[in-house]
Amino acid sequence: MEAITCTAPVNLAVIKYWGKRDEDLILPVNSSLSVTLSQEQLCVTTTVATSPNFTSDRVWLNGSENLIKDFPRIQKVLQLVREECRKSGKKDLAKNNIHICSVNNFPTAAGLASSAAGHACLAFSLAKLFHLDCDISVIARQGSGSACRSIYGGFVMWEKGEMADGNDSLAIQISPESHWAEMRVLVLVVSDEKKETSSTSGMRRSVQTSKLLKLRSEYIVPQRITGMKDAILRKDFEEFANLTMKDSNQFHAICLDTFPPILPPYMNHISHNIVRLVTEYNKLRGTRVAYSFDAGPNAVLFLLENDVPECLELITTFFPPNDDETNFVRGLVTSSCKKAVNCQINIPICPGGVKYIIHTKIGDGPRILEDPASSLLTCEGFPRV
Ligand code: PMV
Repeated sequence: MEAITCTAPVNLAVIKYWGKRDEDLILPVNSSLSVTLSQEQLCVTTTVATSPNFTSDRVWLNGSENLIKDFPRIQKVLQLVREECRKSGKKDLAKNNIHICSVNNFPTAAGLASSAAGHACLAFSLAKLFHLDCDISVIARQGSGSACRSIYGGFVMWEKGEMADGNDSLAIQISPESHWAEMRVLVLVVSDEKKETSSTSGMRRSVQTSKLLKLRSEYIVPQRITGMKDAILRKDFEEFANLTMKDSNQFHAICLDTFPPILPPYMNHISHNIVRLVTEYNKLRGTRVAYSFDAGPNAVLFLLENDVPECLELITTFFPPNDDETNFVRGLVTSSCKKAVNCQINIPICPGGVKYIIHTKIGDGPRILEDPASSLLTCEGFPRV
């Protein structure tokens, strides 16, 4: 048996991907740009193993075995990896069955992009197991579109590409995490329930019906991508924040411009109050925080290290935790805030509205874990626990 264990990060798009021009190959209607989050707080770990003795492909996700036929996108990744093996003359390896065991170090919650990290980790682990030298992001993309951006750390762009076979629809790194090391991220978990409209069916309906999506993909995104790359390279936080917030707003506007609209909306009233809090705070202090929301109510806030204590103080004031929540702020530790601007902000207080906060920063791309003790599979290829 040959096996390898890897980890992969979550990424959060600041210029969003919404809409496919080819559903089978997962080719997007526009390019997108994301920030890779630190694996210390949010990551997926996957062990993949292959052996001529395995009788079928099998998959264990977060502790229980799943039927591989229920996961067509995992099957697609396996098929692509086998094709690459054949192309590079490893025909025998391509015949062997594969065991996959994967766990998240965070709840599989709405809006936390666990499927992106999961598919990135699977594609990366398999490519390393079989020593493939193809573009791993092209394989990850066909597991879950946004997964291709989790193949790199720092700031990453997914080029939409022009080719019909999708071989130029891949991720590239704009700059590594060390470039803007003082950037911090607060994930505000509002709900961990599963979203009602899946991104696949939502995107399909938006592409078919939203004129705003057409305008966005043809005119708005190309300009925003240029502006965002420039803001990142110059470390211009104000420009980065404004583009991030505008693009999040536009993605949710497209969901309502879709016909019939995507309902219930991904953002709920707590999400809207988070937008109000950030807006009020930025009015008082200058643009210090940016929000972004994916296909769920959870907020991701970007800010610089020095502003974290005050921002946490504000969030705790306006979204005080439930009494039973003893671990409200998780992840990176920060000093307490001396003087916040709470009294000058006039928005409703929503107790329990934010369940908990994950404090993290920008991180690196997938890693290989060399220590055999980190393997999730035994020497026979079955889960350790
Ligand atoms: O990769 P998917 O199918 O889960 O789509 C992700 C879409 C958004 O998260 C809403 C935006 C993005 O670019 O990640």
